[in-house]
Amino acid sequence: MDGNGRWARRRFMPRVAGHRKGVEAVRAVVSRCAERGVGYLTLFAFSSENWRRPAEEVNFLMQLFVRALEEEVARLHENNIRLRVVGDLSRFEPRLIDLIRNGEALTAGNSGLNLTIAANYGGRWDIMQAFERMLQAHPEQRSGFAEADLAQHLAMSYAPEPDLFIRTGGEQRISNFLLWQLAYTELYFTDSLWPEFNGAAIDTAIESFQQRERRFGRTSEQVQAAAAAELGAVGRHA
Ligand code: FPP
Repeated sequence: MDGNGRWARRRFMPRVAGHRKGVEAVRAVVSRCAERGVGYLTLFAFSSENWRRPAEEVNFLMQLFVRALEEEVARLHENNIRLRVVGDLSRFEPRLIDLIRNGEALTAGNSGLNLTIAANYGGRWDIMQAFERMLQAHPEQRSGFAEADLAQHLAMSYAPEPDLFIRTGGEQRISNFLLWQLAYTELYFTDSLWPEFNGAAIDTAIESFQQRERRFGRTSEQVQAAAAAELGAVGRHA
């Protein structure tokens, strides 16, 4: 969710006004994804590196997270949305941790959109903590691990690998987001600043995704033959 600061500066407002406006964009995007039947939406709200920002901005963001949770969790629950927060929460104030745990518990039984907020998250942190947990689970083993042995300890092991990665704000980089899981994800970069992003912008990103051919290492001919065979199978069962 990049571009909040620039959005505000262009309007001669303090950077934090962009973050406040960013919450409105979060609301619009969550509601459009829920409407469209998207299974999983993961928002990168605060990276492990964001602590390097001025203390005043970090404090503002923390208060914004507190307020957003206080105000939005009931609405998420009414809409059958399941909330989870991933990242190293140990640096957060107790009030924020309580709100996160309560929101997760309240919505744990919901079967609609799976909304994950990545907070104090970093892809490298995630791989390292998964690695440590994998070793703890197999104290005798020193080699011969499979990818799945590590993947089951990643913070988002409950979710499939993402189909689509969206970065707003014009930069074309991953910035330590879900490094392991993005191996075959389609990347979508837009110049729109996060506060301008909305439901229609999600539709445009999904349309772009639908134009892509996902080969997962195979040739285009193989992918097309597999798709035709699947269509044939659907036809025979219809
Ligand atoms: C990056 O824009 C944005 C952030 C570091 C914060 C994102 C937080 C929100 C959108 C608040 C709401 C989130 C939740 C889940 C309640 P930037 O500040 O780096 O913008 P810039 O690149 O223009 O400076």
